[in-house]
Amino acid sequence: MTLQAVEKQFSMLKDKEIIVGITGGIAAYKTADLVRQLTKKGANVHVVMTKNAMEFVTPLTFQTISGNPVIHKMFELFAGSKIGHITLSDIADQLVIVPATANMIGKVANGIADDFLSTMVMATTVPVFFVPSMNTKMWSSKMVQANIEKLKDAGYEFMEPASGDLACGTEGKGRLPAIEEILERMEDIFTSKDLTEETVLVTAGPTMEFIDPVRCITNRSSGKMGYAVAKMAKRRGADVTLITGPATIEFPRNDIDIVHVTTACQMRDAVMEHYKKAGVVIMTAAVADFRCREENCQKIKKKGDSNYMTLELEKNPDIIGELGKVKEQRIIVGFAAETENLLDNAKEKLKKKNLDIIVANDVAKAGIGFGSDNNEVMIIEKSGKAKQVPLLSKEEIANIILDSVKKALKNKKRIKEDWY
Ligand code: CTP
Repeated sequence: MTLQAVEKQFSMLKDKEIIVGITGGIAAYKTADLVRQLTKKGANVHVVMTKNAMEFVTPLTFQTISGNPVIHKMFELFAGSKIGHITLSDIADQLVIVPATANMIGKVANGIADDFLSTMVMATTVPVFFVPSMNTKMWSSKMVQANIEKLKDAGYEFMEPASGDLACGTEGKGRLPAIEEILERMEDIFTSKDLTEETVLVTAGPTMEFIDPVRCITNRSSGKMGYAVAKMAKRRGADVTLITGPATIEFPRNDIDIVHVTTACQMRDAVMEHYKKAGVVIMTAAVADFRCREENCQKIKKKGDSNYMTLELEKNPDIIGELGKVKEQRIIVGFAAETENLLDNAKEKLKKKNLDIIVANDVAKAGIGFGSDNNEVMIIEKSGKAKQVPLLSKEEIANIILDSVKKALKNKKRIKEDWY
């Protein structure tokens, strides 16, 4: 299976009928990338443009990318199109307006339906998601904010604009959020919220131990597995804190608490600070087992003619092992990156560290594990039950791990109830 196929297989947007409404803002050109990404995820996209949107971008662009006719006239017939006489809003699963101008927000908030898009918003019963983008002063105007509050109260979804340089030459809040973030929220709208009562602490990425000011000991972990777990837990409604080592990837949500650390000792302190409020701890981080015994404040210079040098290393704290001793009713999930004897080594770690679940993967296998978007793992429960998970995207694996966590939480609750 190709990487793209794996990605497409999982997305909640796959096979969904998505209407993308475009209104007249400079960010309209960015919507082309959104439409492209949606089609890549397997959605069938129908673009509706207002007259003002066409001042910025052309219907031809969107027709080419989406593969569907673009609607931009109020009384347009769908002659020859595969949706025939059925109205778009009837077949849609979600309507997203990107960018949403102050004008469109104001019209919908006040019940005005004078073009195809605003009429459709009024007529539809599917989730409507506004992604505003405008000048900072417009965004913070009392009228715009009052209209947004009114629409939120009526059940419309909104996303806050990002801050930064604006096309009008000013700086501030009003930029269109990154396409990745918009897609994440669109997926979120389709996800059932089955973890709303849970607080989940996730560790991710590598740790980095300094040898001197310019050199370090680290490992090949990209952070992708942990970020996927944090993202999926949040999508499913959990309260999530992510403690991350120096990963090179971006986290596509700004609604979770992220704690940045560098060394294993810093990660240990952050975990100990946050674990108490968590009911579930998922340790995907590839923690460096050793750090330099001596801190070298200056760059180490080559000495003499020797071809060798010795670094004295000191053991780092075993964070998950420490947690295992104070876990109480918590569910603790560990990861075991192995290159041989996968099942036996993982089972031993599960027992030794007092874990509920261990996720084992063979890091020696090509195309999976470190740095890859995909993984192939074995999920082993405390009971000894092991489930082989085939090659899937890390996001899908994260969901399967969270399903096992749900099961473990349920079992724990049942045992607790039996006791009282
Ligand atoms: N872990 C940890 N603290 C460490 C090392 C690892 O909390 N100092 C956690 C990892 O986050 C992972 C689990 O322990 O969830 C297993 O990590 P792994 O590196 O596979 O195991 P180790 O205990 O370090 O054993 P070894 O390196 O000898 O295989």
